[in-house]
Amino acid sequence: MSSLDKYEKIVRLAKRVGIFWPSYEIYGGVSGFLDFGPIGSQLKRKIENRWREFFVKRFGLLEIDTPVASIGKVFEASGHLEHFTDKMASCERCGRKWRADHVAAEQTGECVDELGLAELEEFIRRRDVRCPECGGELGQLGLFNLMFETKIGPYAERRDFFRPETAQAMFTNFRRLYELARKKLPFGAAQIGRCLRNEISPRQGPIRLREFTIMEFEFFLDPEELSCPYLPEVEDDTLPLLPAAEKSKGRHEVIDVSVREALDKGYIMTEWQGFFMGISKRFVEGLGIPVEKQRFDEKMPWERAHYAAQTYDHEVWCERWGWIEMAGISYRTDYDLKHHMEVSGTDLRVTKGNRRFIPHVVEPSYGADRLLYAALEYAYTERDGRIILKLPREIAPVQVAVFPLVAKDGLPEKAIEVYEMLRDEGFDAYCDESGSIGKRYARADEIGVPIAITVDYQTLADDSVTLRDRDSWKQVRNKIPALPAVLRDFFAGKVNFDSLG
Ligand code: GLY
Repeated sequence: MSSLDKYEKIVRLAKRVGIFWPSYEIYGGVSGFLDFGPIGSQLKRKIENRWREFFVKRFGLLEIDTPVASIGKVFEASGHLEHFTDKMASCERCGRKWRADHVAAEQTGECVDELGLAELEEFIRRRDVRCPECGGELGQLGLFNLMFETKIGPYAERRDFFRPETAQAMFTNFRRLYELARKKLPFGAAQIGRCLRNEISPRQGPIRLREFTIMEFEFFLDPEELSCPYLPEVEDDTLPLLPAAEKSKGRHEVIDVSVREALDKGYIMTEWQGFFMGISKRFVEGLGIPVEKQRFDEKMPWERAHYAAQTYDHEVWCERWGWIEMAGISYRTDYDLKHHMEVSGTDLRVTKGNRRFIPHVVEPSYGADRLLYAALEYAYTERDGRIILKLPREIAPVQVAVFPLVAKDGLPEKAIEVYEMLRDEGFDAYCDESGSIGKRYARADEIGVPIAITVDYQTLADDSVTLRDRDSWKQVRNKIPALPAVLRDFFAGKVNFDSLG
């Protein structure tokens, strides 16, 4: 088991306990698609809800829910039809298609991000970069649009698409949302939803999916009032930054600066971006990912999406792949609203006093599946040859497991009573009586259940049970009627395990 890397260990665990597994497995699977099992779906919901708590509730964002299928006009206006492309190379021998920049970087160890299509083609020829599968020569490069094309209805002449980001609906709905925000800036609109990107050759499991969940919000601002009143809350927090200005001078190591300094030095363009970066670090830390495993990497102009004036990728260190983007915090200016206004002919400007203008946008956008994987990577631990998933209690898929010590003498019935009471009190719980008590603890540890409650012979005498801590395996005793209140405080992070007795 120990010769496997962490990714492989997590994939094995995920399949066995119902976190995720390849989609269409009985037909051999297809890369870029994953099915989430019962534990994985619940974990994803908890991460989404944590995001809602952190951003939607805290900032009163207007959360919407819009279709995945979109009419082509939306992406004509947004620029995705023209710009949302990757460089693709085909093998002359076996015909396989590859992300040309990824294969070139993997085989030469060099950064090729800055190269245009013709330059990359010349680089591949000069450095003899070959097909990773069969070693064949790579032929002419082309641009491949990542959007999944579809047709809405039986109209062959139309080109429609599945959305590659949820953001566009926040722009196309801007007028309605602005009305709902009582015509006041700033305000934000949020969405969590499935998106599709037809990645050329995804080979990174949950990190690069063709269908995935984005959690993002668009924060609409008056471009003449870009200051953020909440900034003092995070201005002294440290941001581990890789600013583009420093990278272009050849400095590629992280610099630790406060949010305030990063703004003063011009590393971050607007206060709202700086503020959300500070909050983002706390959000990701709350998923169990230590701050020293996080950094913010500013995308160089040629790496940025076509709509962004500035983007910092919020990255997390993953054992197999190194630094991986979990979120992008972008300053989209008025790019999207301006283009939708031009293409739709609808006026998307707002009026303030005698000024009429198009609002600007700051967008923090998170990949839910990537965050789920990163949370698993940092939660995964082994003790005495057993797996313990030390997920933060706030996102544990199951909060409480209830066990009868033995499956006889009325203990199972009492355990079911305790389980039903906790379930009705709103806890995510289950009851398990199969196998030895040791095996049941082990099964609960593997899916990250923070508290296991055992009903034993003393329970029948005095209505008390044992509570066992997943992380320390310590045990305390408490009376059944006291459980809902103490567990509620525990899961709200108000008390620690030792106070549960
Ligand atoms: N909306 C952010 C992204 O497409 O990555």
